[in-house]
Amino acid sequence: MIQLNYKNCLDEKVSKHGLSLKEIEEYKEKFVEVHKNLVEKIKNPFLMLGWAKLPYENFQVKEILKMVSEVKNKFDTLLVLGIGGSALGNIALQTALKDKFWNNLSKQERKGYLKLYVFDNVDPDTAKSLLRELDLKKTLINVISKAGDTAETLATFFIFYNELIKKVGQKKAKEHIIITTGQKTGFLRELVNKGYSKYDFVIPENVGGRFSVLSPVGLVSAALTGINIKKLLFGAKTMADKYKVLNPNIKPDEMFKNEAFIFALINYLLYQKGKHICVMMPYSDRLYGFADWFRQLWAESLGKEKDNNGKTINVGPTPVKALGVTDQHSQIQLYREGPYDKIIVFLSVEKFGCELKIPKFKEEHYLCGHTLNELLKSEEKATVASLTQAKRPNLTITLPKIDEEHIGQLIYMLELATAYAGELFNIDAFNQPGVVLGKNYTYALLGRKGYEKYFDELKSII
Ligand code: PA5
Repeated sequence: MIQLNYKNCLDEKVSKHGLSLKEIEEYKEKFVEVHKNLVEKIKNPFLMLGWAKLPYENFQVKEILKMVSEVKNKFDTLLVLGIGGSALGNIALQTALKDKFWNNLSKQERKGYLKLYVFDNVDPDTAKSLLRELDLKKTLINVISKAGDTAETLATFFIFYNELIKKVGQKKAKEHIIITTGQKTGFLRELVNKGYSKYDFVIPENVGGRFSVLSPVGLVSAALTGINIKKLLFGAKTMADKYKVLNPNIKPDEMFKNEAFIFALINYLLYQKGKHICVMMPYSDRLYGFADWFRQLWAESLGKEKDNNGKTINVGPTPVKALGVTDQHSQIQLYREGPYDKIIVFLSVEKFGCELKIPKFKEEHYLCGHTLNELLKSEEKATVASLTQAKRPNLTITLPKIDEEHIGQLIYMLELATAYAGELFNIDAFNQPGVVLGKNYTYALLGRKGYEKYFDELKSII
């Protein structure tokens, strides 16, 4: 299973920039209280904690796998249109679990599974390039939006749909469309009802965007590229069981076995000591997309103006992503010698997919005979040591290897950690009023009916 090592966040390692064991232990009773609160919320289907039960429910997994078997041989490529929580999980899963150059592999090398493109922006240049790149006759489009109304996602959908009908005709276009959206309302749900898509999947009402990677949002594209989604969910379930997310009665001592809570607690306590920036730095290219996914999860969930009592607190750690070893030559100077305002979270992988030897060279060189794996691991250890030596708190999450089960574990651990952190900060980790307001201003600027009041508000600001 994945492991968490936080010894470099303790004062014995990083002196006054760290935490004493006593400070951490004092939270044992709080842990029991926080856990109980969370379990109650998880059990309430009307609150936005539906994500916590997804690994038990295998929601729409059968339907997804049936769809994959039906479309696998008919299409060559999947285009995902979505943004934020409706795209970042898809990218994280694909980069972690599939070859870096997956889209360049032949259909045979891909074992018949689809290439994947995720378009999560409205940059016209990228849209144009994608239109040139994709053979729409062989492309399946999965348009994902929980609200079903998000301007960016709908705009790109209209563009690709328009091109699609030029290529295959209005009648056949439906065969190419998957709609993944909320159950009841929204423009995309209307399109489902009007028969625009051959397949549609549901984003449960009580699962928010950034917590939706283990729902059809993340699972459809994963299954279409051949990721074993059952194993992914099994990995997540292992953690849900371990952390007893459905059991309110836990003992204070169990706190130390609960990495999700410890991760949240350390981040919370260090935040109080001025460590307002949380850098996630995987030592693996495959996990870089994951750091991006976590960045949204942590930022949107914990960055809040008000606490649960309505008091203005303007709280929230700023998540930053960095990549080992690449960013040792870009960021580490700042992390080691700059302000004492950071906690570094390393993602470490014990066993890579392969081992690559650095061959002999004409001239003698100390590197020759080692492997790239040894070099990467040595650099990781050296970075941990140099930051610790400079009294910079850091912790490491270790994955024995990158596969579906461990990625499932990591997703669940970090989702639960986010929920615990919300409880500790006493904020609602599951809303995003700041995002909603930006969406409403955009609608107003583009003349959407019903949003006139936002236009006036916006005019008074800019
Ligand atoms: O976490 C969230 O709720 C957001 O980041 C959403 O995922 C994002 O705004 C996209 O929303 P939607 O899926 O409704 O289009």
